[in-house]
Amino acid sequence: MRKSFAAVLTSLAAGIVLAATHAEAAGVKIGLSLPTQREERWVKDKLTMEAAAKKAGVDLRVQVTDNDASKQVAQCENLISQGIKVLILAPHDASSASVIIDKAAKAGIKVISYDRLVTDSPLDYYYLSFDNVKVGELQGEFITKKVPKGSYIVLAGSPTDNNAKLFREGAMKFIKPLADKGDIKIVMDQFVKDWQPSEAQKLCEQALTANANKIDAVLAPNDGTAGGCIQALAAQGLAGKVPITGQDAELSGAIRIVQGTQSMTIFKDTRKLGEKAIEMALDLANGKPVDTQGRTVNNNKKDVPSVLLTPFIVTKDNLDKQLIESGYLKKEQVYRK
Ligand code: BGC
Repeated sequence: MRKSFAAVLTSLAAGIVLAATHAEAAGVKIGLSLPTQREERWVKDKLTMEAAAKKAGVDLRVQVTDNDASKQVAQCENLISQGIKVLILAPHDASSASVIIDKAAKAGIKVISYDRLVTDSPLDYYYLSFDNVKVGELQGEFITKKVPKGSYIVLAGSPTDNNAKLFREGAMKFIKPLADKGDIKIVMDQFVKDWQPSEAQKLCEQALTANANKIDAVLAPNDGTAGGCIQALAAQGLAGKVPITGQDAELSGAIRIVQGTQSMTIFKDTRKLGEKAIEMALDLANGKPVDTQGRTVNNNKKDVPSVLLTPFIVTKDNLDKQLIESGYLKKEQVYRK
């Protein structure tokens, strides 16, 4: 059948658009700077972005700083000098990373602040994360429902991580009114350096000793710190007796939930976050603006246009559905004997 002239033109045009999309991605250099690989989630973020970049034909250059702010600056300078068009940056130190935004802007490079917000920069960049206040609200609501009265250990993440503040802010919406009423007694209220499980363990040990083991609940900001606290509780025969929160849906957290020593976690699907980051980076590399539907997060200097994905609460009751059916964790690993 002979195609009409118009049909030929249309298919030619479609072919050109397709070829152009491939050409737009092909070999585009994108930089990725991650704060750590200590928590399992950051390993997943890295793997997802590498796979998504490979699929799109993007040349992704990855650097991992091990919780070292000045190393991160040096690594990003290096990425900038490699001719990247976009930098995906998950800062170790929110505020000092604003220097990286300055340097990228001078080189005409767009920045996506990934998972953690870079703060205190007056320049233009995007933020891609989860609704982190909501994460804290889910933790705070859960723990105060379980333990509306009693002695609380309240831990927050690293003081250099803006997320730690947002998680705490969300959780405190539930804990503070009860503390003001006198129903809850906060016996410890501390940030945990670099989110280190061993630090969290030490803090919990101190609180247990100072309160003759009379602790009724622990707000732990993520699964790593929860793991540290649970070791401290276990040493006193209290693991599984004191409700404790978590976050990240790490395999070890899921195992503890199934075994009953950790009460909940928060599922933030890092696969979705990583894929979205590569998609946004490609758009930015090709001069397409990202539609953030008017959503912003304040960085102390300005409102940063933001894409925020939804976090979900996970308990023993919905763990299979949320984490195993979604393919995030493997059943045989979670329910290992
Ligand atoms: C992330 C958490 C993670 C923590 C420690 C936070 O910024 O949002 O998912 O557990 O850093 O790496």
